[in-house]
Amino acid sequence: MTETPATRRTASWRRLLPVVALALLAISPPALAQKASKKAAPAAATAGPAYQDAVNAAYAKFKDLKEGKNADYIPALAEVDPNIYGIALVTTDGKVYSTGDLTSAVSIQSISKVFTMAKVMEEQGPDAIVNNMGVDATGQAFNSINAIEQYKGSEMNPMVNPGAITATSMVSGSTRDEIWNKILAFHSDFAGRPLAVNQPVFKSEAETNQRNQAIAMLMYAYGHIKAEPLRACDIYTEQCAINVNAKDLATMAATLANGGKNPVTGKQCMKTENVPNVLAVMATAGLYDDSGKWLFMTGLPGKSGVGGGIIAVSPGKFGIAVISPPLDAAGNSVKAQKTIAEVSNAVGGNPYAPKPR
Ligand code: DON
Repeated sequence: MTETPATRRTASWRRLLPVVALALLAISPPALAQKASKKAAPAAATAGPAYQDAVNAAYAKFKDLKEGKNADYIPALAEVDPNIYGIALVTTDGKVYSTGDLTSAVSIQSISKVFTMAKVMEEQGPDAIVNNMGVDATGQAFNSINAIEQYKGSEMNPMVNPGAITATSMVSGSTRDEIWNKILAFHSDFAGRPLAVNQPVFKSEAETNQRNQAIAMLMYAYGHIKAEPLRACDIYTEQCAINVNAKDLATMAATLANGGKNPVTGKQCMKTENVPNVLAVMATAGLYDDSGKWLFMTGLPGKSGVGGGIIAVSPGKFGIAVISPPLDAAGNSVKAQKTIAEVSNAVGGNPYAPKPR
């Protein structure tokens, strides 16, 4: 065999083998076992107590924070107790970590936009969303009419009202009841229990949603809503009034974190292949014109609602939700934003954070 640098290296390794073998024998078996088990431990695993500790610590840190104000453009929301404060985190193996108020329900509001959009993706594929109302951020308020005018309704992310009402209009069904039942059942599958509508909130918003009706009419005028714009607005208003508690929301988020399979009930709620598209839209505009700040702070696809809830998804790890009604100027719960950032950063939830090798 011709000698090359490589064969020379092999030969000198051969000479070293007995020495290496002796050195290995000098290490005791328990020490070897310890080394092996250290290597086998999954790098990203966060233990249960760490999740519960993070949830408890964030609750203690923010429970007395008094910033923000309940939404009042929907009159019933002004009446909701501003002191409701609940945190729930559900891991992709179905474990629940929670504290605070876990029984009070609030209306889901804009968080429903995620699931109705996902339903449209299930029925027509993700391109139906991209082609009809787009997936770019408007950078404007969630109910901006200027944003519609700017691109004739074609650059409307489904996380803002024009795109969301259009998404509702795209759910198939020959009657209002058929469409509505599908939307409610889809949300319930993600929560893992049958959800119901908060009737006073639905009524209150239906009586005062002239702006959303105008938005629906404009999206119809520009050809994005194909028929019955006011019916689409009405169903959208009802979906926004679905009642949820913190655990419902966290389970919904965890289902997205788990590839569309509810980790508590085991039900596959949506196609795994569509989940990355859903998360991308959430990351783009889930917290409206503050989505950039949110992503900067947490790296998590999230979605807020004016009822005071926020969900966030750490793909492959957990879903988290916080309910606290007082909002900031962009319409996002002040305490929920701070709490989720605190918990997620404490347990390594940011998917952009490189793992040390
Ligand atoms: O359409 C509306 O104005 C409400 N039903 C939902 C808005 C909303 O939740 C915005 N969220 N932060």
